[in-house]
Amino acid sequence: MYIAHPPFKPRYILGLESSCDETSVAILADGERVLANLISSQIPLHSRYGGVVPEVACRAHLEVLNPLLAEALERAQIGFHDLEAVAVTCGPGLVGAVLLGVAVAKTLAGTLDIPLIGVNHMEGHLFSALLEDRCLPLPLLCLLVSGGHTLLCLVERWGEYRVLGSTRDDAAGEAFDKVSKALGLGYPGGPKIQELAQKGDPQAVRFSRPMLNEGFDFSFSGLKTAVLLHLQSPQRVSDPDLCASFQEAVVDVLATKALRAARQFGVKSLALAGGVAANKALRQRLAAGAQRLNLPFVCPQLDLCTDNAVMIAKAGWELASRGWVSPLTLDAKPNLELARSPEAGA
Ligand code: KG4
Ligand code: ZN
Repeated sequence: MYIAHPPFKPRYILGLESSCDETSVAILADGERVLANLISSQIPLHSRYGGVVPEVACRAHLEVLNPLLAEALERAQIGFHDLEAVAVTCGPGLVGAVLLGVAVAKTLAGTLDIPLIGVNHMEGHLFSALLEDRCLPLPLLCLLVSGGHTLLCLVERWGEYRVLGSTRDDAAGEAFDKVSKALGLGYPGGPKIQELAQKGDPQAVRFSRPMLNEGFDFSFSGLKTAVLLHLQSPQRVSDPDLCASFQEAVVDVLATKALRAARQFGVKSLALAGGVAANKALRQRLAAGAQRLNLPFVCPQLDLCTDNAVMIAKAGWELASRGWVSPLTLDAKPNLELARSPEAGA
């Protein structure tokens, strides 16, 4: 996926993201100034199905990618020929959706004769934390929580990742989405559950904390089932109490494990990223924990937690500046994992 290239710092880098249900195009200047960040959300298209429908997603990406590209250049007030690199999500994600973004990126890189950088979507989430603080001391522990992934990741060198733990079943965001669907709150579930939880009592139901004291892997499907069973019980509490109690259990497991890993591996900083990082209770809990451990803590601003192309442009810029670029034969990799050996680059 990468070839050797002299490290370089593109003045203008284009980022493309189309791995799931958001089409996004961004332009970043000097690796830090966001000149354009356009996101076309497909939530209205998918919400009536209670989840993302791959065929619907692909068609929608195809319709909006080119118009978004034109609009991003206009917003940034630059032309195609000012672009010095193009970064694109090449996985993981829905195969057809990722393929579309990769095809557009390859076409641009080939015609403009500029480097192409394939970015792992989860690595994009991780690098979005660097938009908050560029000089995070390593080793860094990052909790990456999205609709498809729950990863505890140790970064000893940028571009190389050690996954300490991941989910054995549902991802954290997926659990939010499924509980939301069961409560008839709609998709995506995280923001809806958070909103109701604010009016509820987190101690109303003491849900079990799956695998709390076992290693660094996660499991959320049992917790989700416990919530679904509770819905049928005669002692059913109000929806706000239920949401608050469920959210409390998820946050407790995520934060406890992340903070334990931070202590065990003696990291020098802590980051939180991915769609679920928009959750206020989780942000507060990790921020407080990091403070107790005397660790700098970062998480992206709210609108850069969920999928966006700024994070892909940022990751592309950081990779290019370390000498990682991709060949024009780059492929979409729907099951791409977050781990990289130093096969190229510095
Ligand atoms: O990173 P993301 O935008 O897409 C994937 O890469 O999956 O994450 C989307 C996930 C969804 O499951 C959504 O319910 C969850 O992030 N999410 C939240 C919140 N905002 C979005 N979960 C909890 N609390 C939130 N405020
Ligand atoms: Zn994501």
